[in-house]
Amino acid sequence: MKVSIVAAVAQNGIIGINNSLPWHLPEDLAFFKQTTLGRPVLMGRKTYESINRPLPGRLNVVLSSNTHWKPAPAKDGTPRSVITHPATLPEGNSTQIATATSLPDALKWLSSFEQVFLIGGSHLYQQALEQNLVDELILTEIHQSFEGDARFPQWNRELFREVERIANTATPERAWGFDFVKYAKVDN
Ligand SMILES: NC(=O)c1ccc[n+]([C@@H]2O[C@H](COP(=O)([O-])OP(=O)(O)OC[C@H]3O[C@@H](n4cnc5c(N)ncnc54)[C@H](OP(=O)(O)O)[C@@H]3O)[C@@H](O)[C@H]2O)c1
Repeated sequence: MKVSIVAAVAQNGIIGINNSLPWHLPEDLAFFKQTTLGRPVLMGRKTYESINRPLPGRLNVVLSSNTHWKPAPAKDGTPRSVITHPATLPEGNSTQIATATSLPDALKWLSSFEQVFLIGGSHLYQQALEQNLVDELILTEIHQSFEGDARFPQWNRELFREVERIANTATPERAWGFDFVKYAKVDN
């Protein structure tokens, strides 16, 4: 199973503020959807709560140390059902929520999938990088600094090499540009 980090990162390392994104960047939301659709996405509980609904067309696995954690009901009040580790998982493209209480448990649980995307936040990125679990980073590198309270962790760039960079220049509506960049783990 390939483990890919997906994150949008400001020039100063910021990824979030007040449990939301510091910028409005529809191109990045579209890129994120195109990248992750049909595959499982793994996220921390705060990131799930910032989205506050399962991402459609993806199995949403939420990490929380609280075994009683439940997602908020849908807008019409319908409770959202949750699959808890270690039940059998549905397809990666099913719009469902699953929960696990540890990163190793979650990854073991997801091991039959070809690829899993770690979609944040900083706590989850940090653990995965520190524990050397990441095969690929797919970063949106924003050429602007932002204020925030969540940041992308320091990572060892020597363990990865840049394999793709798609540049997006500034526009009259957007004063800064950004790049979609892929870093692949270097084989030892
Ligand atoms: N720019 C981007 O690409 C991007 C992407 C995602 C998120 N964000 C931003 O990042 C911020 C949220 O990040 P964050 O670091 O504060 O929170 P987070 O990583 O989303 O969630 C942290 C929570 O996840 C649970 N968790 C994480 N690792 C765990 C583990 N190994 N075992 C058990 N539980 C675990 C814990 O929940 P419990 O407390 O319930 O135990 C922990 O408190 C928001 O501002 C969001 O908008 C930005």
